[in-house]
Formats: sequence, structure tokens, C-alpha cells
Amino acid sequence: MTFDQTSAKFVLRNLRCDDIPELIALPRVEGREMGQEPEILSWLNVDPSGIFVAETEEDGEIVGCCCGIALSDTHGYIGMYVVKSKYRGLGLGRVLWNAAINRLGNRNVSLSSAPKMLGFYKGKAGFSFTAKWTVDLYIATDPVLPNNASSRPLPFTVVVEPEGSFIQHVINYDYSVHKYDRSTIVQETIGEAGTLTLMAIEPSIEVSLKVTGYASMKKSIQGHWLIAPVYAEDYSSARSLVHGLINALSDDQLKEGVVAKLVSSNYEAAKLFHQIGMKKSPYQLQRLFTKEVFEIPESKIFALQSSIFCTE
Ligand SMILES: CC(C)(COP(=O)(O)OP(=O)(O)OC[C@H]1O[C@@H](n2cnc3c(N)ncnc32)[C@H](O)[C@@H]1OP(=O)(O)O)[C@@H](O)C(=O)NCCC(=O)NCCS
Repeated sequence: MTFDQTSAKFVLRNLRCDDIPELIALPRVEGREMGQEPEILSWLNVDPSGIFVAETEEDGEIVGCCCGIALSDTHGYIGMYVVKSKYRGLGLGRVLWNAAINRLGNRNVSLSSAPKMLGFYKGKAGFSFTAKWTVDLYIATDPVLPNNASSRPLPFTVVVEPEGSFIQHVINYDYSVHKYDRSTIVQETIGEAGTLTLMAIEPSIEVSLKVTGYASMKKSIQGHWLIAPVYAEDYSSARSLVHGLINALSDDQLKEGVVAKLVSSNYEAAKLFHQIGMKKSPYQLQRLFTKEVFEIPESKIFALQSSIFCTE
């Protein structure tokens, strides 16, 4: 679709794979903590028509983006809503937003709002339902990392990289947490270039494998190590997973800093991340919905998967 905003002409279209490096510059400038190119590619694979961009007709410069990801038939998520500062106030944001909203149709739509945008989303944009918890960003620029016995997996938890048939076990575990089919999202996350995923297993004499959680880590567009998600049955599984991820980083990589987005109501998660030297930053987002609050198992979510594309 081509449209005029003042004297300039812009094109609204879906994101293509080859746009990804250029697109990433927009959320990067805004300081967003999200994965790099492979993460955007994952979400494009999950929902090929869920990410919109506006480009100048003259030279194809990407000047704005917004995603409307269909997470299921009944719920979706709006994120990565950014227009380059030079092009703000021209109505591009509204065009991108409308494309994302229309793409999600009748679904219950959620988003994570920065404080300055709350009034706008709750008022004009109709996101009138608010989750009781907030999305809190924890960060360690100089992580104090466990280098003793307490950092090793507890004797009753084994942490391994899921490969082959183990991937299905992670998908099944994820289903037990989310209660809807996220198999494509889980597969994409595990397969993402540069992402390390670990799964926690409870050793058992039973033939069947008991998975008690999984967690991933990747480099963020801000250059930090982003731990996202950590889903676990209990504190000890979450601890084994997080320590497993951290221990996979070299000393130089640790110096690049570690971030995670926590659900404010999960106090055990806060304790866990505190113990490895992560501190709560002032950055806090509120999760808003159009139809009703989509309940999540807060006690099992030790770190959110993404507050840009969202899943929870
Ligand atoms: C938020 C942002 C994307 C809006 O882009 P924009 O191109 O400047 O927006 P527009 O030019 O379309 O806005 C013009 C008008 O539409 C309104 N508007 C903007 N987005 C809208 C939307 N999604 N729905 C309805 N109205 C909207 C604005 O309030 C403004 O209204 P006004 O003229 O009455 O003041 C842009 O300001 C931005 O990138 N901000 C920094 C990143 C950010 O904070 N993103 C949101 C994070 S939660």
C-alpha cells in the first residue's frame, strides 16, 4: 500500500528477510533489549505476515515498524512499535499500528507499555485491561557469577542441550506451561543461530523423561546476553538452568553484561537473579489487553521469552 504523509510518499508492507539488518536499527536506537537478526527471523517464520514496515517510496529506507503477531487463533501481540525520530508526527505510527491491529482481527490483543505510553494505549487505543504484574528488566553489567559448588546443578536436576527427540520433550513441557500449542515458537527458539537452550531433567528410574524446565540465552541488540525465557517447575530447576547458561559464557562474554525480563510477581525469580548479581533497572513495562487479562502461570515464568514479540 502506498500513502502520502505531507509531501513524502511511503509504502506500507510486510517485512522481508533481507530487511532484517536495517529494521534492527530502529529498536536498537530505542534501547530495546531483544534478540538480534536470528530472533526477528524466528518471528517472521512463526507469523510471516505479522511484521509491518513503512519505507520511503523514493529510496526504500525503512522508517517505521510494528508487529501484530498471531500467537494463537484467539490471542495476539502488538510490539516493536517504533518510527524513526525524524519521521514522527506524520501519521506513520498510526498507519503501522492499524495494519498490525487489523491483522490480528478479533483476537484478544496484548502489548507491553512503557510508562509514557500508558495513557495513550489505555485511552485512545482501547487496551483497557491491565495485568497485576509488570515486566521488570534485570541487568548485571558486572555479574558476580557462581564459581563454587552452589553453581552446579543440584544432584536431582540434570541440565542438557535439547537435541533430536529431546526437542519434543521441551515442546511438551512448554505446552504444560502455556496451555496452547507453541511448537513452532519453541522449535524456532531452540534452532536460532547464536542461541543456547538448556533443558532441566529430573533423573528417574521411570522410562519416561521428566522435564522440569527449559531456558535460552542469546546476544541482545544492545550487546548484552539476554536470558529469555526461563520456564521451570520450581526454584531449583530454574537455578540449575540459569547457572548452566551463565557458566557457558567466557570471562570476556560475561563482561558484556547479562539481562533478563522478569514477572514482578515471581519473587523466587527475583531472588535467583539477584544471587548472580543482577539488579532491577528502572525500566518497567505494563502488560495491557484489549478484551481480558490473559492469565499466565507466573510462578513458572522465571524470565519472559520476549516483551517485544511476546509469548506469555
Ligand atoms: C509511538 C510512535 C511509534 C508513534 O509514531 P508516529 O509516527 O509519531 O505517530 P503518528 O504520527 O501516527 O501520531 C500522530 C497522532 O496519532 C496518534 N497515534 C499514534 N499512534 C497511534 C495509534 N497506535 N493509535 C491511535 N492513535 C495513534 C498520536 O497520539 C498522535 O495523535 P495527536 O496528533 O492527537 O497528538 C513514535 O512516537 C515512536 O517511535 N516513539 C518511540 C518508541 C516508542 O515509545 N514506542 C512505543 C513503546 S511502548
